[in-house]
Amino acid sequence: MCGIVAYIGNRDACPIILKGLKRLEYRGYDSAGIALMNKGLQVYKKKGKVKDLEDFLVSKDISGSVGMGHTRWATHGEPSDRNAHPHYSNSQGIAIIHNGIIENYDSLKKDMIQRGHTFLSDTDSEVFIHLIEDVYENNKCSLEEAVRIALTMVVGAYAVVIMSKDHPEQLIAARKGSPLVIGIGKDEYFFASDATPIIEYTNEVVYLNDFEIAVVRNNQLSIKNIEDVSTTPYVQKLDLELSSIEKGGYEHFMLKEIFEQPKSITDCLRGRIISSQGHLALGGIRQYLNKLVHADRIIIVACGTSWHAGLVAEYIFEEYTRIPVEVEYASEFRYRNPIVREGDVVIAISQSGETADTLAAIELAKSKGAVIFGVCNVVGSSIARASHEGAYLHAGPEIGVASTKAFTAQVTVLAMMAIMVANKKGIIPENKFQELLIDIENVPRKVEAVLQQNQKIKELSEYFKDARNFLYLGRGFNFPVALEGALKLKEISYIHAEGYPAAEMKHGPIALIDDEMPVVVIAPQDSSYEKIVSNIQEVKARKGKVIAVVTEGDTQITEMANYVIEIPRISEALSPLLTVIPLQLMAYHIAVLRGCNVDQPRNLAKSVTVE
Ligand code: G6P
Repeated sequence: MCGIVAYIGNRDACPIILKGLKRLEYRGYDSAGIALMNKGLQVYKKKGKVKDLEDFLVSKDISGSVGMGHTRWATHGEPSDRNAHPHYSNSQGIAIIHNGIIENYDSLKKDMIQRGHTFLSDTDSEVFIHLIEDVYENNKCSLEEAVRIALTMVVGAYAVVIMSKDHPEQLIAARKGSPLVIGIGKDEYFFASDATPIIEYTNEVVYLNDFEIAVVRNNQLSIKNIEDVSTTPYVQKLDLELSSIEKGGYEHFMLKEIFEQPKSITDCLRGRIISSQGHLALGGIRQYLNKLVHADRIIIVACGTSWHAGLVAEYIFEEYTRIPVEVEYASEFRYRNPIVREGDVVIAISQSGETADTLAAIELAKSKGAVIFGVCNVVGSSIARASHEGAYLHAGPEIGVASTKAFTAQVTVLAMMAIMVANKKGIIPENKFQELLIDIENVPRKVEAVLQQNQKIKELSEYFKDARNFLYLGRGFNFPVALEGALKLKEISYIHAEGYPAAEMKHGPIALIDDEMPVVVIAPQDSSYEKIVSNIQEVKARKGKVIAVVTEGDTQITEMANYVIEIPRISEALSPLLTVIPLQLMAYHIAVLRGCNVDQPRNLAKSVTVE
């Protein structure tokens, strides 16, 4: 979603901001703009890509060492030049960039229109800067104070940066609900939605908290909260390499991240599991571990691919810990009246750690007394901070919008959690525990073996690239993989795809099967094998084209299917870590063959910071 980059220091701001905006392109956007302090407060903005903005700036004076830039993902108002950020205040003396939604913008706008304000866009963000100027003029206070007062008047979520022509050497920023990181360099400061635009300049950062206002003036950063109380900035050192956010020779981030999975899973396991010593521990989960071990029920909240990881976790937790699990879409959970009892534990799963609905679901569960475990990839993210305890994925930055390595790392962490809990409860036989530890340790090597079939998957993708629909079927632990495979294909190739529990196919999707319908069946040799063989027969009887993911050495399904992709043998509960890989690769190749923008699919955002 919207991306923010701002700079104040002694270098030219524009190139730093444009480069930063490009680093944030992965978040998803449809227009871009920049404000520079240069003979007044100049704003330039364009519908389209950052490259379009860059081309537009060629004929402009882009000097100036203070500036801010924005990529907008449209919510209020269509993608257009005039709705792009930054937005000016009524007098055009102040400008804002904003990520989030101001929910009461309509009533504020009507009020200001009555008092003579003229609005140039359809956005809620423009209302916000008009309000700030209104307060500034009426209260005769400092701009910083006007921002603080205005923030008490808006309902919604925001990360904002504000520039004023009367204070050319100053940037003001604030956040509630949308992320904002401040990078601290030598005599220079960077503001951004996440650390990716910052890390090539400095690894010292401050994560702004909700209801905090940051001001950089006279080369000094000061932070106060919305109650006007000053706080001391907590400076953290980022452990992030620049190479981790670059493509490293791959054509797309998504392909790089698919191929990184042996490493990202290894990183995720590092120090947590040593099978030879029977060691399994997650450092971040200690204080509240007993709550999890003795939970009456586990409620998992997540969105998108993380929700699919949650579904896999449901099967694994119930299998080994015998604790009942419910997996909830965070957006549904937060807007009904969920029952959260004493003894329930909530696990929130989020790659970005910033998904607005997941964050709100956590706050709701917390207000009902639940203990929250966060399973996040981005260190220091809002969800990680809002959780009581948690385990990071350590998968490294995920830039491709279609999540791949985060999914496998999520399943890995959740599997470790489940097995650890089962062991603590004493309900898993020692030899089974040992076997699972060995199996988990071997996952990266087995993922590597699946990746070696890339060429074969590319060839079969060629055959199916023009299909208009796809059906994905799986059972048990691999039913969520069917959902995930279908989601990957939809997201990046725009082919309609449905994931279904294989047995449920008879209750509807079977009507869609004809000789043009590719059906991807996830069919490893597990407890559902015979059943899924029958499901394949049902598809074949209707002339559907079967692409099966099978265990190596399988002969029965291999004879029946049109195409097979083999995975190494593995415990049933861990098989999703392997079966998902061919589906990621197939979605990738089909999308590339169709000429789709794999890393920035239309309409999608990597980090969904609005509800
Ligand atoms: C967006 C992304 C998905 C992601 C989902 C949840 O839809 O495009 O890839 O799975 O958000 O995001 P989270 O960061 O909470 O895992």
